[in-house]
Amino acid sequence: MPDDLNSWISALLGDAELMKMGHAQGGADTNLGLGWLYYGLARILHPATVVVIGSYRGFVPMVFGRALADNGDGGQVHFLDPSMVDDFWKDEARVEAYFVSHGLRNIRHYLATTQQFIAASAFGELQSIGIVFIDGYHTEEQARFDYEAFHGRLSSNAIVLLHDSMRERTSRIYGEDRAYVHTVKRFVDTLKRNPGLQVLDLPFGDGLTLVRSATLFV
Ligand SMILES: C[S@@+](CC[C@H](N)C(=O)[O-])C[C@H]1O[C@@H](n2cnc3c(N)ncnc32)[C@H](O)[C@@H]1O
Repeated sequence: MPDDLNSWISALLGDAELMKMGHAQGGADTNLGLGWLYYGLARILHPATVVVIGSYRGFVPMVFGRALADNGDGGQVHFLDPSMVDDFWKDEARVEAYFVSHGLRNIRHYLATTQQFIAASAFGELQSIGIVFIDGYHTEEQARFDYEAFHGRLSSNAIVLLHDSMRERTSRIYGEDRAYVHTVKRFVDTLKRNPGLQVLDLPFGDGLTLVRSATLFV
């Protein structure tokens, strides 16, 4: 892995596939877009554990992976993706080599939905999660499931991020015959009615929402 962060970002964004999926990434100015926020939050919070649910080509787990590597205290990214778009995440040896090609050895991939993952032994080992990034199947029901699955395992200053969270739109990412409407926003609207939470929408890229406890632990 290039020690220099800008060189690492240039290599990451050099892959056109990692420029997709609405994280407001830019190319010419080596701009991570919302990735700066992912990187910055992980550097500020220093989480031992980050959970990422769903990613097309790994932009989010890799940016978190780089941040945890730069933290230098052994943090791990746990990345769940059942590879529903195509075969990209199906071969574990290939997945590991892909992350290693970006200098990352701290991302553990699970070829599983959240439902499958919470029934597996690896889930029992996850404690004190500092960041959960929810970017899997974008329905209200699945976003709620993903949120509630990890809610009881969060550290006191944890932040949950939901992507594609601000508007309803039809997605055909799983094929024309499996088109569906993104309804994560409806779940976010229920979170906004909870006085125990701080909820912040960021209308950049395909939209991002940050959620944390309203109780301050300073
Ligand atoms: C394509 S991504 C969405 C795009 C995303 N904005 C990005 O940056 O890559 C959604 C991913 O969620 C995964 N997924 C779908 N249902 C899931 C579930 N129930 N649990 C975990 N991951 C899921 C899919 O395999 C897919 O790769």
